Amino acid sequence: MVSRVIPVEAFDLVIFGGTGDLARRKILPGLFRRFKDGQIPDEARIIGAARSDMTSEDYRAQVFDALNEFLPISKRDQKALDAFLARIDYVGIDATGTHGWSDLARLMRPGLVQAFYFSVAPALFGDLAKRLHKHKIAGPEARIVVEKPFGHDLTSARDLNATLARHFDEQQIYRIDHYLGKETVQNLMAVRFGNLLFEPLWRNQYIDHVQITVAETVGVGGRGAYYDKSGAMRDMVQNHLMQLLCLIAMEPPARFDPDAVRDEKLKVIRALEPVEPGEVVRGQYKAGAETLSYRDDAENPASRTESFIAMKLHVANWRWNGTPFYLRTGKRMKSRVSEIVVRFKEPPHSIFEEDTGQSANELTIRLQPNEGMDLTVTIKEPGPGGMRLIDVPLDMTFAEALGEEAADVPDAYERLIMDVIRGNQTLFMRGDEVEAAWAWTDPVIAAWEAREEKPMGYEPGSTGPEEALILMHKDGRRWREIGS
Ligand code: BG6
Repeated sequence: MVSRVIPVEAFDLVIFGGTGDLARRKILPGLFRRFKDGQIPDEARIIGAARSDMTSEDYRAQVFDALNEFLPISKRDQKALDAFLARIDYVGIDATGTHGWSDLARLMRPGLVQAFYFSVAPALFGDLAKRLHKHKIAGPEARIVVEKPFGHDLTSARDLNATLARHFDEQQIYRIDHYLGKETVQNLMAVRFGNLLFEPLWRNQYIDHVQITVAETVGVGGRGAYYDKSGAMRDMVQNHLMQLLCLIAMEPPARFDPDAVRDEKLKVIRALEPVEPGEVVRGQYKAGAETLSYRDDAENPASRTESFIAMKLHVANWRWNGTPFYLRTGKRMKSRVSEIVVRFKEPPHSIFEEDTGQSANELTIRLQPNEGMDLTVTIKEPGPGGMRLIDVPLDMTFAEALGEEAADVPDAYERLIMDVIRGNQTLFMRGDEVEAAWAWTDPVIAAWEAREEKPMGYEPGSTGPEEALILMHKDGRRWREIGS
């Protein structure tokens, strides 16, 4: 049981960086899946644009290879592939020069939705925006899609926003944070604001703390040069984890519309307190039996960049005063898990004897793998042994509850690209949100840079440095076991 596929309007979508990794891995396979499901109308066209000169025929062959590489075999239906490829064109274009722009102008069809995906280095955003205008390719309704990293700090993010604002209104700019396109992330809003059950309890009075974990098993090999200048704080916390925190902590928006939702998220970011040095743990993975150390992966023997970070945050407002948010994320960890745990407080008074095992409820929202939620409730242990209490999960694994098709929900990119075509910005970051996130992040990074702090080593396949466990233990709390 999945929702009906409602076709979007016909469009011309130009992918700058059409031969790049993101286009091959995510954008094109995502578009194909939406096409195969009947969401993309026949009149739609996808135009790859990149530096190299080749024919549309050559480009289609490259797209075909990418789809074969990145789509599961069950999705590669030859008839649909042929029909999809027939919708693809290519222009060789020079982002910083004049070559190719009139060819692109000729290909665009007036009257259709126009979208331009900037899947290129942010340094080229300004050049592309300027030329789209100069050659009168992008109309007032055109949409541009940009990817992270959206800046490296507050100053660079402001510059990027200002560059784009010279040619496009905020309503035309779609800043992707692919975590917002994940099924369970949206479900978080449905659960919070579509049920009466949780919202009255969703505050410091009843919630002891929140944990957000995004653990990955992969290292940074292959993208070490980029990653070494970012680290987990810039690569994951400033954007993905921050967005998850916002959705948990925000006030109910008046409507599910782009500005109402984003206004509430912005208030959360602005309410974040500066982080104390003692409340951050940074780590770097060591070499394993068959894996390189972070420093070898990054090819920087003296690197002080963190591949792991854990921290305790405080949202300074009435709702959350006294309820900490613990965040952790890292590479080369024990298993690939993204989840949010909302730990409720224990009941104020126990009517049961001390050794009966009373504990607190826990709501776990699993983003991946095995998307779903579970809520632990305390019940009587069945049997004749008197009143003993145990925690049992009320488990809702989406694939089980909603049928097999629910396991096949669209990938984040598919959903987000369809939202661009529909003109719905709810799941995209607004410029002021991104700037506020950097304004909070910058001083935290500056503090450890000023101390020339080195991250702590941790074993690959572990849960990060010991100190991350201590961060919670010293508050009398503990992380949910990764992969439990
Ligand atoms: C990206 C980061 O934004 O998100 C990567 O740059 C990270 O370092 C990735 O691996 C994680 O995304 P997902 O969807 O696999 O959890």
